[in-house]
Amino acid sequence: MSLKPTARHIWKNYDGNPVLKDCSFSFEKNGIYVLTGPNGSGKSTFLRICALLEKPDKGEVEYSSDGNPVSNGIELKRRITLVLPRVGVFNTTVFKNVAYGLRIRGMQKREMESRVDAMLEFVGLIHKRDQNALTLSSGETQRLGIARALAIGPETLFLDEPTASVDVKNTEIIENIILTMGRKGGSTVVVTTHDREQAERLNGCLLVMKDGRIDGAGPPS
Ligand SMILES: Nc1ncnc2c1ncn2[C@@H]1O[C@H](COP(=O)(O)OP(=O)(O)OP(=O)(O)O)[C@@H](O)[C@H]1O
Ligand SMILES: [Mg+2]
Repeated sequence: MSLKPTARHIWKNYDGNPVLKDCSFSFEKNGIYVLTGPNGSGKSTFLRICALLEKPDKGEVEYSSDGNPVSNGIELKRRITLVLPRVGVFNTTVFKNVAYGLRIRGMQKREMESRVDAMLEFVGLIHKRDQNALTLSSGETQRLGIARALAIGPETLFLDEPTASVDVKNTEIIENIILTMGRKGGSTVVVTTHDREQAERLNGCLLVMKDGRIDGAGPPS
């Protein structure tokens, strides 16, 4: 399975200010895409629109699966996840925070428990399973957000500055999670970052955003 967005001629204004100007991009290959560019250039806006959380003023985002168009609706949205730069947590255990999305999807308890534990293992938080999520450090909170996103098995995963307020050690853990996701095949991972070195380490297709336009795309070199 491979679920991929194509953005066509996206325009977006906020309060009369153009933020995205005719952005087009087709995410064609499996693996990692890195979106970079200065503050305010429109990266987060482009991500929200590609993740179907916000509508463009003009243009469209279409998804295809193995080359076949997928109609836009709740079923499609369930296959896509966006993790925000500051992950919000519920005032309950780490386990329940990750389980939430599975519970509302009606997953059976035993399957849910093993899935959540596997995700906590994957992001290195299994030892924090029963701790209140509000007491996690920012790096741990970010990993919790990723575990919660991955638990529902998204085919397209958007990560908006996943390491923005995270120390070196947690950054390395998060980058390894992203690299593993990208290598597993099947899923499309789109990451925004300000960190040039991070962009190089993730070694994905690099997209540069400048003043609301996609200014270039290609391999990191
Ligand atoms: N919901 C909104 N309402 C009004 N203005 C907005 C909204 N969202 C974004 N903007 C504006 O759009 C511009 C682009 O914002 P965006 O968050 O997409 O940039 P960015 O490239 O992600 O920046 P950063 O690197 O700081 O995260 C900014 O000037 C921002 O103030
Ligand atoms: Mg942003």
